[in-house]
Amino acid sequence: MKTLRINTDYLTVDQTQLTPYLERAGAAQQQLYNGSGAGNDFIGWVDYVNTIDPALINSIKQMATQIKEKATALIVIGIGGSYLGTKSTLEALLPNFDNEVKLKSGKGLRVYFLGHHMSSQYISALLDHLADDDIFVNVISKSGTTTEPAVAFRLVRQFMQKKYGTAYVERIVATTDKSRGALKTFADGNGIPCYVIPDDIGGRYSVFTPVGLLPIAAMGIDIDALLAGAKAAYSDFKVNQQHDNAALLYAAARNYLYDQGYKVEILVNYNPTFNYLAEWWKQLYGESEGKDGKGILPHAMSFTTDLHSLGQYVQDGERLLFETVIDVAKADELLKLALDEADLDGLNYLAGKPISEINRTAMLGTILAHNDGGAPNIVIELAEHDAYHLGYLYYFFMLACGISGYMLGVNPFDQPGVESYKKNMFALLGKSGYEALAETLNKKINQNG
Ligand code: PA5
Repeated sequence: MKTLRINTDYLTVDQTQLTPYLERAGAAQQQLYNGSGAGNDFIGWVDYVNTIDPALINSIKQMATQIKEKATALIVIGIGGSYLGTKSTLEALLPNFDNEVKLKSGKGLRVYFLGHHMSSQYISALLDHLADDDIFVNVISKSGTTTEPAVAFRLVRQFMQKKYGTAYVERIVATTDKSRGALKTFADGNGIPCYVIPDDIGGRYSVFTPVGLLPIAAMGIDIDALLAGAKAAYSDFKVNQQHDNAALLYAAARNYLYDQGYKVEILVNYNPTFNYLAEWWKQLYGESEGKDGKGILPHAMSFTTDLHSLGQYVQDGERLLFETVIDVAKADELLKLALDEADLDGLNYLAGKPISEINRTAMLGTILAHNDGGAPNIVIELAEHDAYHLGYLYYFFMLACGISGYMLGVNPFDQPGVESYKKNMFALLGKSGYEALAETLNKKINQNG
């Protein structure tokens, strides 16, 4: 079986209608490869996985070993593209309850995330929780000036200073721009080692740079396998530019559906360990395509859980959505339902079946039901659930996103809309340089209140 395949059988459209979209997807792919499209100063990620320096990988592995030797808790500080790829990978690949198991046994490195919100309750609870731990921090910010991670980093620094005195700086590694930003200045001034986020790779396309690789390696995931999967995807999609190329097919199908009035895409998984993959994917597609008054709204659901909350809407609500289902083909045999003599729950007809098979059957039944209800489904068949296949899947989604954004006619590599809330927040918090805006906003607030 192929590593990844797009199944369009449940798209509920005449496949010939996809042909012009596939032609446009092919042209968009060429734009990405020859750098002639919008935002071409941010397409370093297209070739990065193929050209990554082995010396960098070795250095990351050495740093990961140091972290494991020194710490019981790794705090990853970052927001958006500076944390979602790591969180997604660790949720998908670490054993369930990894932190709890390690806490119980008193062995192994646990991971925690900060800097992706400003909940004082959460941050103070986490710092209390880690009071007796040996801490190591990986602070990640390309700009080095983003408020949420900067706030968290200052709080964590103060916490570490109390614990370790001036030696606290020996427990920090930064991942940031090669020369710009407050984080770089702070790191250089304190002898803190820095990994570089390349200039031409934006946050949401950075999972294969040190942004993702360092914390992922520190947590014991095989980054060689992750990169091997990404590299295989890079070659497969570059060599095969025919219509069965999965990145082309996915980009073509979603643009076709968008033009037919399907404005919401739901990424569906049948395994909650992929919930953060969905968060990563939502940022990738939402921030890349939602601009100029255009773009599919990326949404996510975990089935069968959400069939009991949002399933009604998907089946029967306003017809503006389609689903993209992640179908992992290799079933596990971890659990089987046993025969029960009394059979009071009426489940004996399932006796002997692996739970994974029951789950997959639920998926097929759901796809058919939603098709009947008028929701087209794109199915992404992924051969297995491991580091290699996840690397392949990430690269597939990133490439298809660049292609899809070009088809839509937007620059998939900028995020001008993200600045609006920041300006308002700075003005209302009294940051210098924002006085005029503060006056306008306060007037509005007073009128409303
Ligand atoms: O994709 C992006 O570029 C953004 O989501 C950024 O990753 C996010 O805003 C964090 O930015 P920074 O890494 O500069 O702190």
